[in-house]
Amino acid sequence: MAVMIDFPRRKHGQISPPVEYADLRQREGLVRSQLPNGSTVWLVTRHQDVRTVLTSPQISSNPTHEGFPNLGDVQTVPLPEQIPGWFVGYDQPDHGRFRKTLIPEFTVRKIRELRPAIEKIVNSRVDAMLAAGPPADLVNDFALPVPSLVICAMLGVPYSDHEFFEEHTRTLVRFTSTQEEREEAVGALVTYLNRLVSIKQRFRGTDLISKLLAGDSLTAEEIVGVGLLLLIAGHETTANNIAIGTVMLLLNRQWIGDPRAVEEVLRFASVADLVSLRVAVEDVEIGGELIRAGEGIVPLVAAANHDVEAFDRAAEFDPSRPAKHHVAFGYGVHQCLGQNLVRAEIEIAYQVLFSRIPTLDLAMPVEDLPFKYDGILFGVHELPVTWTAD
Ligand code: HEM
Repeated sequence: MAVMIDFPRRKHGQISPPVEYADLRQREGLVRSQLPNGSTVWLVTRHQDVRTVLTSPQISSNPTHEGFPNLGDVQTVPLPEQIPGWFVGYDQPDHGRFRKTLIPEFTVRKIRELRPAIEKIVNSRVDAMLAAGPPADLVNDFALPVPSLVICAMLGVPYSDHEFFEEHTRTLVRFTSTQEEREEAVGALVTYLNRLVSIKQRFRGTDLISKLLAGDSLTAEEIVGVGLLLLIAGHETTANNIAIGTVMLLLNRQWIGDPRAVEEVLRFASVADLVSLRVAVEDVEIGGELIRAGEGIVPLVAAANHDVEAFDRAAEFDPSRPAKHHVAFGYGVHQCLGQNLVRAEIEIAYQVLFSRIPTLDLAMPVEDLPFKYDGILFGVHELPVTWTAD
């Protein structure tokens, strides 16, 4: 009989995953946990078990199935009928059609071609910070605009609309948003993308949305959903990772300039800890526990990434370790489509930021930073930094 526990949360001032994860990993079987809306889910914390969940054919990503986890007071994941083409919520074979169409756009080679454009964007944000002088909010001035500018350029979305889509994205990733706020955000974003897609149907560009419209594997309605998924997934996650990674490097200055820090920050911070939600559609055994069809599953990727069975001295921030097998991007068929882009963005971001502003430092003690504990993504709301101006 599995033990029932409160849903573990990160503690104030803490970059490491919730302290309870270590205890959960050591228990036999899996753990049941009650969510704020009263439903119960299985928590999966061991690296091997998380990988098994994310590759089991008996386990689904489709939020319309009864029992799919709902981490907020209300529905937190968009349903396929709300956003057709939101393929992270599709199972095979539908999901494969989207993935096959999009993979060629996100290969290592394709992303290498984007590096000069990314470098230009990153440098332009550092220029603006230097021109304004210290102090700065690194989230608002750097970590958020960099991936927003990159994904806008890729999709052909006007960056002048960034406040609109960034604000609505924040509503969607926050647990505390009401049903009305959520519906309004989804409605506004879908209307926006619909308009953009219909403009591009008439005036084709060289961007990804135009390219998808020129192909024949996705309908215009599906391209709206795909565009929205890429726009949302493409900025907020990476922004959190750039900001948290900057904090980690400022606390561990000996690793500044070492590109291996990119992978270790991804592992250590695991900003998308609560993203890979699942539900069993057939009975299945995971980690010695029988999960029944219709039961919700929450694989905690941050817990898996701190599993000592998979990572030696997992609690230490050590960029020299081999960390590529981390599951910060998920695992299996839904593993993050944007991961090559993310790696390029954050590597360039740290390289340019620290080489152009070598005296960069936190402008407040780390424990006072406004960490995000209220949503599916971990990060900081603001990151006050300062430096010595010339
Ligand atoms: C640090 C940054 C990022 C992190 C940590 C991250 C993490 C994740 C995770 C954990 C998943 C798996 C979801 C699941 O299993 O249900 C995922 C899927 C996805 N991500 Fe990312 N992501 C990041 C950035 C990006 C970027 C920049 C893009 C796009 C340009 C992107 C696009 C996607 C898409 C489209 C999926 C769905 C893939 C599918 O269902 O096949 N992500 N991401």
